[in-house]
Amino acid sequence: MNATPFDLILKGGTLVTPAGLRAGDVGVRGGRIAEIGKLESEAAAEIIEARGLHVLPGVIDTQVHFREPGLEHKEDLASGTASAALGGVTAVFEMPNTTPSTLTAADMQDKLRRAQGRAWTDHAFFMGVAAENAGHLASLENEPGCCGLKVFMGSSTGSLLVDDDETLLQALRSGRRRMAVHAEDEARLRERLALVRGGADVARHPEWRDVETARLATERVLGLARRAGRRVHVLHVTTAEEIPLLAANKDIATVEVTPQHLTLTAPECYERLGTFAQMNPPIREARHREALWRAIDQGVVDVIGTDHAPHTREEKARDYPASPSGMPGVQTLMPIMLDHVNAGRLTLTRLVDLLCAGPQRIYGIVAKGRIAVGYDADFTVVDLAARREITASWLAAKCGWSPFEGMTVTGWPKATIVRGRTIMREDELLGPPQGQPVRFLETLARKRG
Ligand code: DOR
Repeated sequence: MNATPFDLILKGGTLVTPAGLRAGDVGVRGGRIAEIGKLESEAAAEIIEARGLHVLPGVIDTQVHFREPGLEHKEDLASGTASAALGGVTAVFEMPNTTPSTLTAADMQDKLRRAQGRAWTDHAFFMGVAAENAGHLASLENEPGCCGLKVFMGSSTGSLLVDDDETLLQALRSGRRRMAVHAEDEARLRERLALVRGGADVARHPEWRDVETARLATERVLGLARRAGRRVHVLHVTTAEEIPLLAANKDIATVEVTPQHLTLTAPECYERLGTFAQMNPPIREARHREALWRAIDQGVVDVIGTDHAPHTREEKARDYPASPSGMPGVQTLMPIMLDHVNAGRLTLTRLVDLLCAGPQRIYGIVAKGRIAVGYDADFTVVDLAARREITASWLAAKCGWSPFEGMTVTGWPKATIVRGRTIMREDELLGPPQGQPVRFLETLARKRG
């Protein structure tokens, strides 16, 4: 019998494990899960009473833009990860369209250094793909702290863009990890820009960046990925038309959807929120939202990521199309998705698959994403019954607004625990920030080699 005291016990909660829901305790030692169920010892330095609450594996948001370096007036690694922690998120994967873009090993190391002692959550960074680094991707993608490569096929915020098949194919042929793709067809975007150039109603955003813009790019990248024998991850899928294509290519493609595309619809969102609802790819009509829900139900969707893309209120208030695309979301992920669970649109175990196990499978994360002995002691503790309004005063993101402000939801994060340390309890951050780089199978293998 092992009677060594634990560092932390989560007591009496409903655990969401790979085997389903199960009542029991979790004992943590040295930042890892040491025991699950009826514990051998009840002694611990810290005990969290979880009766009436659900204990989920730590939620991982695999698509956030935290804007550091270069655009810190919108967000930085401290504010972005604080927002994540308050929302119950234990790890984030951050996008490369900063200033400068993340394109070299030195850019990656710079982000890791900036995160040290300032990031509340664990973190990893995407390496951007551009013509200038296309020859070095096989080694760049395995830099420590790198979650993989990200390619923009259509231009959005920042200067990253690979719109020609030749460079795309070259990138797909260099390296082995799953490549994340923003799939909008640049040529079609340029062709259709005349629809909105010079000023238009923001409700025309999904008309400029139309269904065919998304479908074409997804079809192209699937074809190129198959030629290259490379796995791809299609980010923020928004159209009914892409779903059968993706379903027919599940051997090479995984799929992300965002909470906002599962919640908002056009034209209502543009009438209510104006340019604050503008993002790429756009929020579309209800038939697309229903197709995304069906794709979740049918298992075509692998992961939910927020595409947290903050811009200041002043920037967003510019006249369309000078207004930047993107909306914050990392902090509202759990309230919004738990509300969908309560409304019966998906089960809690399916949500955990999309937010914890899904990221682990797609990116080859080491020892995160499930409640299992030996795994990192990352937990998102939630109250499924809590009914609360999303208010600006709760938000920690620098931009200070959310498209979901004023919405009353059922389900709320109560505690965020990263490697055994409680970093958020009852809306309070508990410091100091000690987030660490996420580890990946590939980088472990590189160290061995
Ligand atoms: O709306 C968006 N905003 N889509 C993207 O792809 C980029 C993001 C941003 O960085 O602002």
